[in-house]
Amino acid sequence: MGFLGICKEFSTIAMMLTVILTSVAAQAKPGCQSHCGNVSIPYPFGTGKGCNISEYFFIRCNTTFNPPKAFLDTDNIEVVDVALDGQLRIQNWVSYDCYGPKGRLWYLGRELTLAKFTLSRTRNKLTAVGCDTYVFFEGYSESGQRYSTGCVSFCNKTTDVTNGSCSGTGCCLQEIPERATSYTLSFSSYTYHADILSFNPCSYAFVVEDGAYTFTIPDLFGYNMSYKEFPLILDWTIGNQTCKEAKNELENYVCKENSACIDAENGSGYLCKCLDGFQGNPYLSNGCRDINECETTRPCNTTCHNLVGSYNCSCPEGFDGDGRKNGTGCSPKVSSGGQNFPVLNVALGIGISLPAFFLCSSCLYLGLRQRKLTKLKQKYFRQNGGFLLWEQLSKREDCGETAKIFTAEELKKATNNYHESRILGQGGQGTVYKGILPDGRNVAIKKSIIGDESQVHQFINEVIVLAQINHRNVVKLLGCCLEIQVPLLVYEYIRNGTLFDHMHNAAHHAPPIPWETRLKIATETAEALSYLHSAASPPIIHRDVKLTNILLDDNYNAKVSDFGCSRLIPSDKAQITTLVQGTLGYLDPEYLHTSQLTEKSDVYSFGVVLIELLTGLKVLSFERPEAERNLAMFFVSVMKEERLGDILDGRVVNDENIEQLKEVAILARRCVRVKGEERPTMKEVASELEGLRAMKKRKSGKDYLQEEEEHEHLLYGVYNDRPGYEGSSINSIGYYSINNPDNFEIYGGR
Ligand SMILES: *[C@@H]1O[C@H](CO)[C@@H](O)[C@H](O)[C@H]1NC(C)=O
Ligand SMILES: *[C@@H]1O[C@H](CO)[C@@H](O)[C@H](O)[C@H]1NC(C)=O
Ligand SMILES: *[C@@H]1O[C@H](CO)[C@@H](O)[C@H](O)[C@H]1NC(C)=O
Ligand SMILES: *[C@@H]1O[C@H](CO)[C@@H](O)[C@H](O)[C@H]1NC(C)=O
Ligand SMILES: *[C@@H]1O[C@H](CO)[C@@H](O)[C@H](O)[C@H]1NC(C)=O
Ligand SMILES: *[C@@H]1O[C@H](CO)[C@@H](O)[C@H](O)[C@H]1NC(C)=O
Ligand SMILES: *[C@@H]1O[C@H](CO)[C@@H](O)[C@H](O)[C@H]1NC(C)=O
Ligand SMILES: *[C@@H]1O[C@H](CO)[C@@H](O)[C@H](O)[C@H]1NC(C)=O
Ligand SMILES: *[C@@H]1O[C@H](CO)[C@@H](O)[C@H](O)[C@H]1NC(C)=O
Ligand SMILES: *[C@@H]1O[C@H](CO)[C@@H](O)[C@H](O)[C@H]1NC(C)=O
Ligand SMILES: *[C@@H]1O[C@H](CO)[C@@H](O)[C@H](O)[C@H]1NC(C)=O
Repeated sequence: MGFLGICKEFSTIAMMLTVILTSVAAQAKPGCQSHCGNVSIPYPFGTGKGCNISEYFFIRCNTTFNPPKAFLDTDNIEVVDVALDGQLRIQNWVSYDCYGPKGRLWYLGRELTLAKFTLSRTRNKLTAVGCDTYVFFEGYSESGQRYSTGCVSFCNKTTDVTNGSCSGTGCCLQEIPERATSYTLSFSSYTYHADILSFNPCSYAFVVEDGAYTFTIPDLFGYNMSYKEFPLILDWTIGNQTCKEAKNELENYVCKENSACIDAENGSGYLCKCLDGFQGNPYLSNGCRDINECETTRPCNTTCHNLVGSYNCSCPEGFDGDGRKNGTGCSPKVSSGGQNFPVLNVALGIGISLPAFFLCSSCLYLGLRQRKLTKLKQKYFRQNGGFLLWEQLSKREDCGETAKIFTAEELKKATNNYHESRILGQGGQGTVYKGILPDGRNVAIKKSIIGDESQVHQFINEVIVLAQINHRNVVKLLGCCLEIQVPLLVYEYIRNGTLFDHMHNAAHHAPPIPWETRLKIATETAEALSYLHSAASPPIIHRDVKLTNILLDDNYNAKVSDFGCSRLIPSDKAQITTLVQGTLGYLDPEYLHTSQLTEKSDVYSFGVVLIELLTGLKVLSFERPEAERNLAMFFVSVMKEERLGDILDGRVVNDENIEQLKEVAILARRCVRVKGEERPTMKEVASELEGLRAMKKRKSGKDYLQEEEEHEHLLYGVYNDRPGYEGSSINSIGYYSINNPDNFEIYGGR
């Protein structure tokens, strides 16, 4: 719960990718037909040339039937199911011995002779049905040994007989001998059914899968049972050697990677089985694939790491325990120890060997040479979703801007080993460092905090989203580094800091940003968001539009940043005020209410940004809780009371631009409407702002800027007389009321 919108969509894509990768690997030999009718045919069985491991495993698919039927070629028996655990289900006819008043009518004692496979002793039973019935089973084992067994069943009237019971009255059961490769059934009777012809003219016998036949009284009547078929289970093995013998003659040994050899019980040949933690077809190369326990059984209470063939759970920093749901879980540590970065994994599903990921792709410049990769680096690359990323990037046809993969070494050097002095910012998602590349370029390097699996997806999302985006008002991703435990993202370095710093940072002694610049920044931000909403499908919802995520370059060009959307919004609202207070003021109330994230949530957040630009007020400045805890609501109520002049930023407003500020205020009010559908789209907002700017330029004629500066100077003075923001409304009111008392009449009318 909590990761929504783009985050959710992209992790779904990532998950789908995993599923596809897993299911693509068919159980048949590559290039071979995997099904005959509805019977799946896994290798070592096969139905085409070169698709079977030996002649005994050849399946003839007869398409004159609809659906087609599969036959074991050597024995000409219909196969209905093939299991890789060494068993095979076939269809088997019933043997019968039928009588009329003049004696025997029909007799068929069927034989079954198997070329290589054997009857499963444990899963089949000899079954006979009849009321004057002796059945004999004569079988031969693999080694040629002969066995006989049988059963008898009698009854005088149907009322003696019980449905479902095969205990010798109407029906009998008998175990069959070990590993029979052939058998014959024969019958005998005491009175040729003479006394019971009225209700039981036939004796029937068959070897059947245990549980597949349930005796009922009507089966005694008539001759219809003669036409029935029942399933029978065969055991199959590879070859006639033991595992040990086969391993000594490697050309006879067929178990592939991540599988084990198992000797057939009481017989010749062997089977292969995927090792614990793997699943798939052990007879195929790369057939046994790692099971991602983290996704299938979710065994951990906390962070789950899928390892090849297993998994482990880890507890968050400051906690001890095995992290397992059925284990000790996690409990707070008594004394807190050292750093402990949780790491996770993206399900890779398929056992493509790692170096294959590093095949050069035209879209991906690889800064490493294959032979330099250590095992560890490969591991982290994998854990950090390198494969997923590689997949995504290589799917893109238009290379355009290329994302470079940096080495850990390069970035360590660039940040002077992540020195404290290089920290540009720190947040919920990680730490941003300033880096200097060997070519002298400045970059910003984000060291992401990855807490759990969904965050890996988020991290990949950010890379994928940014790699797709090429807009002058969106911060550019230069590359990433995936080979260390913590993934790193490398961005263009935006020198002038965040819009928040410029608007609110007390230590920032520069004069306040003039209104015209604010409008330019707002317009550019709106254009960037509009682009995000329209350029990609599904639309990219930024989800965290706020002053601190709008960066400014030297020319005050806006650069929208931070696509990690790692902001967690707990469903419990009490937690919101404490956990994500930093952006609470920007959160779309409709979204909080319904959890339905749409583009309109960005419109809301952007509306709050406009309000901040208009008023200079800070979202969540707790000095004035009634106002800024919900700045948007406060703003709307002030507008309703026609007191807008009270809260406009006195440092930038003047006679020339007041009309424009009013227009922007009206736009902002529309953006923060409670109902998303009543808000304008980002595209409309962008074009409206662009229109206002154009209007301003036309109007502003000659020495407008200079004039504005004078006003600012004056206003700045007024502003500085006040203790903080506290009295700003009162002073502004005074100023505007005196200078232009007519300014505020229109607001109520709109
Ligand atoms: C195949 O189809 C038949 C009848 O349509 C059904 O009885 C049988 O269970 C199916 N087998 C498998 C493996 O799905
Ligand atoms: C597969 O079965 C066919 C038909 O029995 C046989 O001719 C062929 O040799 C078998 N393939 C292998 C590899 O043994
Ligand atoms: C398919 O089954 C039909 C009917 O039993 C039989 O006549 C035909 O020879 C079979 N074809 C093959 C290729 O086995
Ligand atoms: C059937 O009847 C005969 C004599 O009529 C009797 O000897 C025999 O025990 C009966 N069998 C059963 C199973 O009831
Ligand atoms: C036995 O089973 C058949 C068919 O399921 C049913 O018609 C009959 O009533 C059952 N007889 C008894 C005694 O339960
Ligand atoms: C045997 O089958 C025929 C047709 O298939 C049906 O008409 C008859 O009722 C059946 N008899 C019994 C005893 O089930
Ligand atoms: C094992 O199989 C091989 C080839 O299939 C055959 O030549 C050999 O005689 C068999 N050995 C035994 C003991 O069955
Ligand atoms: C294998 O043979 C032994 C003795 O012959 C027997 O006790 C055991 O049950 C057999 N194993 C299976 C799985 O049938
Ligand atoms: C779990 O596996 C990860 C990745 O291999 C490793 O870094 C971590 O130390 C392991 N944790 C435990 C508790 O074994
Ligand atoms: C926990 O579950 C796993 C897999 O379900 C099982 O192998 C293990 O024995 C269980 N451990 C405990 C302590 O119950
Ligand atoms: C695992 O989490 C659940 C709910 O989050 C909790 O009830 C349970 O006690 C935890 N198990 C352990 C072993 O910590």
